[in-house]
Amino acid sequence: MVLTSLRLFFPILLAVICLGCTQPIGTADGLYSYKQPSSDGIGKVYMGREISQVMGHQGAYWLERPSREAEERPDMAVDALGLSPTDTVADIGAGTGYMSFRMARKVSDGQVLAVDLQPEMVELLAAARDEQGITNVQTVQAEEDNPHLPSAQVDLVLMVDAYHEFEAPREVMTGIVDALRPGGRVVLAEYRAENPLIMIKRLHKMSEKQVKKEMAAVGLTWVKTDERLPQQHLLFFEKAA
Ligand SMILES: C[S@@+](CC[C@H](N)C(=O)[O-])C[C@H]1O[C@@H](n2cnc3c(N)ncnc32)[C@H](O)[C@@H]1O
Repeated sequence: MVLTSLRLFFPILLAVICLGCTQPIGTADGLYSYKQPSSDGIGKVYMGREISQVMGHQGAYWLERPSREAEERPDMAVDALGLSPTDTVADIGAGTGYMSFRMARKVSDGQVLAVDLQPEMVELLAAARDEQGITNVQTVQAEEDNPHLPSAQVDLVLMVDAYHEFEAPREVMTGIVDALRPGGRVVLAEYRAENPLIMIKRLHKMSEKQVKKEMAAVGLTWVKTDERLPQQHLLFFEKAA
């Protein structure tokens, strides 16, 4: 009786102890490991960084808050991209289209591929696009590990406040690199993790060093870091020509 109880109890005890451990998993060449999730994380670790939770579509109004203009200076961010009118650009994790629509004005003879994981966000974006009569923004439904972009057709990929929450960053970035034309650019806007006074949840910020490490892992070359925005790094990378 005692022996039977021990046999049952012991594996459960082991499992509970191991919940707090970091264990490698079998995807993407063992690149990921798991830990006990932080309050704003999913417990999955990539290159030393715990991936954050996805911002749910229920919070979409937050992306359109009036104070965002002053906090993030989105027009200044789009100016920094140096887009040409004929460019094809992709906005990955496009949300409600806050950045997609601003880029659409700059690529009047090109197009914006507005990509998001949440079907509700894609629907919100499409509705806002149609209401505003914008004709050069195309929505794309992503999967967690696939941005579903066409191969070798994109001049610039923008990710604003989004990359840190990709559940499969290596796979998504591999898709992005494939979608870029030779010499194409990737730009990330991420809240500065180096500054503790920036009041954003820990895992929703990224350091310049960490972003550079993760982009180098998919073969992208760092070009520059632009610090003109009040709270976010703008990090520029390039695919080999
Ligand atoms: C914090 S919101 C930012 C939205 C937008 N970039 C902006 O600045 O307004 C992050 C968005 O990334 C999306 N997202 C998360 N993981 C994704 C993935 N693997 N592929 C595409 N979109 C993703 C979420 O659904 C969410 O809409």
